[in-house]
Amino acid sequence: MGTFRDERHGAIEVWTLDAEDTRNAISRAIAAELEERVARISRGSGTRVVILTGAGDKAFCAGADLKERATMSEPEVRTFLERLRRVLRAVELSDCVFLAALNGSALGGGTELALACDLRVAAPAAELGLTEVRLGIIPGGGGTQRLPRLIGAGRAKDLILTGRRINAAEAFAIGLVQRLAPEGRLMEVSLSVAEQIAANAPLAIAAAKHAIDGGASLELDAALGLELKHYETVLASEDRREGLRAFAEKRPPVWRGR
Ligand code: COA
Repeated sequence: MGTFRDERHGAIEVWTLDAEDTRNAISRAIAAELEERVARISRGSGTRVVILTGAGDKAFCAGADLKERATMSEPEVRTFLERLRRVLRAVELSDCVFLAALNGSALGGGTELALACDLRVAAPAAELGLTEVRLGIIPGGGGTQRLPRLIGAGRAKDLILTGRRINAAEAFAIGLVQRLAPEGRLMEVSLSVAEQIAANAPLAIAAAKHAIDGGASLELDAALGLELKHYETVLASEDRREGLRAFAEKRPPVWRGR
């Protein structure tokens, strides 16, 4: 049974969900492997950006593995869901930036996986949808909470209550996807975004990510306080001084991540 394929480009890792027969659906094995991977890069492996994508041109990820699900007892489904929720939260809390490169359908848990990432880039053939109500469940991997935070409650209800699928252009128009890649250029565009991020100071990227995510659900004064707390972490850093030196010396900075 497939799980992931790997590629490395300097500080960028590409993780390809590799289970084309089930349209890269999230099985227990895939959820467990994803959890290990996120833990590994969070322990510090020099990786700055992870691009998550799916094998083939049909699906990024077709959600939970529904064939496996049919064999699971209620407690087993609960255990699976707990792990998935934990993994998606770990993706969000990681200092690494996660970019979902949507090569095809991202449905149910597939859209939830993309939502836990920091950015989403879509191929023209991508489609997204939180289709769970059509199966008698609701999004349980954070979809009911992350989607409205990203695109607003009205648009999130339109998608979640109808369970409809939207194409890449509509997803881009409503801010669910941040970049549209031209036909055949999804990985090129994703790598280019990842390289721009990885060229910046590591502590600054992590601080900015956590300031944005942490502040989103706070009242403005508390959120501004959080921003200041994160600013303090970069103010004291060697990299801030290196940034100033590199500017004065008209050369690219050499970041040390401290
Ligand atoms: N879990 C397990 N297997 C899945 C799956 C899933 N979530 N989604 C698709 N598959 C399997 C199909 O059962 C089929 O297997 P088979 O060859 O043994 O019959 C195989 O993947 C190909 O599926 P098919 O529908 O023919 O592929 P497609 O390329 O035409 O369409 C999708 C791809 C993803 C658009 C389509 O499979 C789909 O809509 N899947 C359901 C996704 C869904 O509702 N997810 C939400 C879960 S809450």
